[in-house]
Amino acid sequence: MTTTLITGANKGLGLETARQLVAAGHTVYIGARDTERGRRAAEQLGARFVQLDVTDDASVQAAAKTVEAEGGLDVLVNNAGIEVRGPDNAIPIAADTTADEMRTVFETNVFGVVRVTHAFLPLLQRSTAPVVVNVSSGLASLTGLSDPDSPAHFYPAIAYPSSKTAVNMVTVQYAKAFPGMRINAVEPGFTATDLNGRTGTQSVEEGAEIIVRMAQTPPDGPTGGYFDVKGSLPW
Ligand SMILES: NC(=O)c1ccc[n+]([C@@H]2O[C@H](COP(=O)([O-])OP(=O)(O)OC[C@H]3O[C@@H](n4cnc5c(N)ncnc54)[C@H](OP(=O)(O)O)[C@@H]3O)[C@@H](O)[C@H]2O)c1
Repeated sequence: MTTTLITGANKGLGLETARQLVAAGHTVYIGARDTERGRRAAEQLGARFVQLDVTDDASVQAAAKTVEAEGGLDVLVNNAGIEVRGPDNAIPIAADTTADEMRTVFETNVFGVVRVTHAFLPLLQRSTAPVVVNVSSGLASLTGLSDPDSPAHFYPAIAYPSSKTAVNMVTVQYAKAFPGMRINAVEPGFTATDLNGRTGTQSVEEGAEIIVRMAQTPPDGPTGGYFDVKGSLPW
């Protein structure tokens, strides 16, 4: 039986990933910072719940202890993420970007991934088929955002895409350090969730597809890559 932890799984892509992985036979932990919402989501899906705020060392350490005591971990999905938006869901422009905004976004999207991965590595190392999926974004791609012909080129904010580019590098470096694990970054595609004020053009079912697929990467599957549903993406 494969045991999987998904961070930020009380709603959006994380919740849908949990639903699909429960259906695929995984024992799934819904990681959520809010106990009530997390428990409710877990009950709804027949999953387990663990309190986990990716910005809080004590919370992440306690979650790792709980999961270890209950049998360990095979798959970690680093899904929790934020995108700071302005009034009327406006995407922040470069001129308005502050160090504080960058710090807030990196605390969750980048340091959160490292904090959680670091805490759960000892458990993953005991698994016979350890897998890590880092939920990145198409906006992480330096190739895409610097190419005027790319659909992502228009995106003006600084903090969110930079944080996801950092997630991609974190993925590459962990994958080299742990060749016995399958560690990949994924781009779910533009999905209607609270993150973007529900402006996304895909459903969560569509968005979760690549996350679910990469969570089931076999031991001889790819590692250190960056994928969407159609295949490999340019960094
Ligand atoms: N939607 C898209 O178009 C899209 C595209 C590419 C990539 N992504 C990525 O997909 C991932 C999931 O996003 P989503 O679209 O599903 O957004 P969402 O519906 O807003 O869900 C984000 C989840 O992350 C959780 N979270 C935020 N900060 C957290 C923290 N400090 N500790 C623990 N959990 C925290 C949220 O919990 P609360 O309910 O407590 O806030 C929520 O469960 C993110 O990494 C996002 O960057 C999304």
